[in-house]
Order: sequence, then structure tokens, then C-alpha cells
Amino acid sequence: PRIRVAESYEAMSAAAAEAIARRLAARPSLRLALPTGHTPIGLYRRLVELTRQEGLRWDRARVFLLDEYLGLGPDDPGSFRRYMDEHLLRHLDPAPAVDALNGKAADPEVECARYEQVLAREGLDLVVLGIGRNGHIGFNEPGSPFQSRTRVVTLTADTRRANAPDFGGDPEAVPPRALTVGIATILDGKEIFVLAAGEAKAPAVERAIQGPLDPAVPASALQRHPKVTWFLDRDAARDLD
Ligand code: F6R
Repeated sequence: PRIRVAESYEAMSAAAAEAIARRLAARPSLRLALPTGHTPIGLYRRLVELTRQEGLRWDRARVFLLDEYLGLGPDDPGSFRRYMDEHLLRHLDPAPAVDALNGKAADPEVECARYEQVLAREGLDLVVLGIGRNGHIGFNEPGSPFQSRTRVVTLTADTRRANAPDFGGDPEAVPPRALTVGIATILDGKEIFVLAAGEAKAPAVERAIQGPLDPAVPASALQRHPKVTWFLDRDAARDLD
């Protein structure tokens, strides 16, 4: 993979934002999958700035969210759909078309199948990922098969603890299940960016890049993809050789 280590969180965010802006400028109909979480907040801030500065247009692009909590919809404060509106979409005018897994779908399995079909039809040009400290990508927790597709999953206790700050600090308040694109769905993207910042991510980053291919570290599956760029700050890169 390509590994770009930045001096700071801000520099990492700027580097990733510039790379995405270049992809969009080269291909206005970009099909882009995006993560939520704490890591990409700086990226989205920078991308909004670049959009204004460079007059980037998003009206032919399509944005897809990677995952969503089961039971949460766009109006729920903890939902990923709401996050994406707040941090990115409402700042883009004209906004791109958006599709996301609906956490409130009457039949979540049918919703996952729908989404997998849409992604197969559209074809993702670029998949942007964060990485969990347990090595997850999307909500593909350790043990997820590399051939997994979009599906309903159960979150680990560690992930619910990590995301508790978004739910008043209580891990029990974090929904126990989620809908997520699969590892194989991610690997079908033409290009992949992964962002990681902070030393809590360093062990997962090291195992993903330098460890064996191992479903216990879902991000190690990215070693199978020919076009992956890691955007790291110095702390997240600490354990790399
Ligand atoms: C979020 C997602 C997750 C996060 C990961 C890191 O849509 O798919 O894989 O990217 O949990 O989260 P943060 O950035 O909050 O550390």
C-alpha cells in the first residue's frame, strides 16, 4: 500500500481531503463511500473548505455511507446519516445524491440486500475508511469473513465502549447491532483510503499493514487490494517499521 504519514491530525485531514478533491475534479460522477466517527471530522471540514475555494461541484457525484446502527434513522442524533448531514452534506451546495443503509427499515435483511445491489450497480470509485482499535473496517468486527457482503452484525463490547461518547457516555446506550457493508463489498471499490489518528490506533494499523491476513484483524484484508492509501498521523504510524 501507499502510506502517507502526516505531522499532525490537521495535516492528515488536509492530505486526505486534497486527494478526494482531486478524484472528484477528475471524475465529477465519482461514486464515493464514506465513514463516520471521530477521525474524519477534520477531513470533512477541510473538504468543505476546498469545495468553496476550488469551486468543486458535487451535483453529479454520489455518496454512500458505510454503515448505520440498527434501529436508528436520520432523525436520531446518534445516527450516522445525521452525522453525515451535519459534518459534510449540508455544507455542500448543490449536494451530491446520497444513499445509506436505513437502520429503521422494516426488514433489515432486505435493506442490506437492496444496498448491496445498488453498490454493485453503481460501482464504487473510492471507499474511504476509518479503522477501529480492534481492527474493524465499517462495522466488520474481528472474525468477519473476508468474503462478507452487506449484512446485519452484532457490535463487540469494545466498539460499543469506543462509541459510547456519542450516546451520553453509556456503552449500554449504544445500539447493540448495526447494518454494514461487507469486507468483500469494500474490496470491490476501485480505490481505498484509510484514515487513522492517535496512538490508540497504532497496534491495529501495524497489524493491518504488516501482520498476516487474518479475519481477527478485518483491516488486514486490505492487503488483498491493489490500490490502498493509508493516511496516518505520527501517533497512529508509531508501530510501523
Ligand atoms: C464508521 C465506521 C467505523 C469507524 C471506526 C473508527 O462509519 O465504519 O469503522 O471508522 O470505528 O472510528 P473513529 O474514527 O471514531 O475512531
